Amino acid sequence: MTFSKVTSGTEDAVRVLDVTHWTDRLFSFSVTRPASFRFRSGEFIMLGLLDERDKPLLRAYSIASPSWDEKLSFYSIKVPDGPLTSRLQSIQENEYIIMRKKPVGTLVLDALTPGNKIYMIATGTGIAPFASLIRDPELYEKYEQVYLIHTCRNKSELAYGKDLVNRTKKDPLIGELALENLVYLSTTTREKSDVVGRATDLIQSGELFSLLSTSPFSPQQDRVMICGSVGMNKDMKLICEEFGLVEGANSQPGHYVVEKAFVG
Ligand code: A2P
Repeated sequence: MTFSKVTSGTEDAVRVLDVTHWTDRLFSFSVTRPASFRFRSGEFIMLGLLDERDKPLLRAYSIASPSWDEKLSFYSIKVPDGPLTSRLQSIQENEYIIMRKKPVGTLVLDALTPGNKIYMIATGTGIAPFASLIRDPELYEKYEQVYLIHTCRNKSELAYGKDLVNRTKKDPLIGELALENLVYLSTTTREKSDVVGRATDLIQSGELFSLLSTSPFSPQQDRVMICGSVGMNKDMKLICEEFGLVEGANSQPGHYVVEKAFVG
């Protein structure tokens, strides 16, 4: 793929810098960041490849790197017959992919009203936007405590999140804040681990709040960001509403926000 083929007003060809395969279902990759590209932590963009007719085949990807980073990182599932990920999973360093330079999304700090504690609830690749947010100094200016909760099927699928949190706590810029204020809790549903069960069930039973030594969600103090499968998002929305939390948007900030993790 050449730059001339795809570079237009809204799309850029970006060079792949690294690719990591975490499991046979999950991989992450980084690309060069176009010079003028700005985004807010938690936003997503469209990216992908050219199809057989040289038409862009794009899907939504949350940006998983912090807004101050020189490169842009992404975390993806591999869908065996997914039109894009079946091909994207074999990208190599120095190859080019296409990116549309218009970041969007509701999983941003601007869509929440002020609070003390923030809970980030993710399943699978839904952790990607939080990989950006937990490295944003603004998060720690706005919240005293940050809780990152990640549910996956198996322990091996937690590797990306564990590595992310370890790196964040050692980061020269954000490490000190994260060490003090970021709490990470991982759970599995199909294999034994320290904490077993869906985040939704653990919230409803109250176990999550005991594990974190916190209190049930309160509209006065707590804010929630949700990113995962359609089912998890739906269930978490209902749970938030039951606790009296109101959904927020860019135009009208609220107590919680939701975004669908990319699949396909
Ligand atoms: P489960 O194993 O019980 O289906 P996936 O890899 O399919 O995207 O799933 C990621 C994780 O999300 C799995 O641990 C899965 O649990 C969990 N999950 C799926 N649906 C829901 C839901 N409605 N609420 C909470 N967690 C869910």
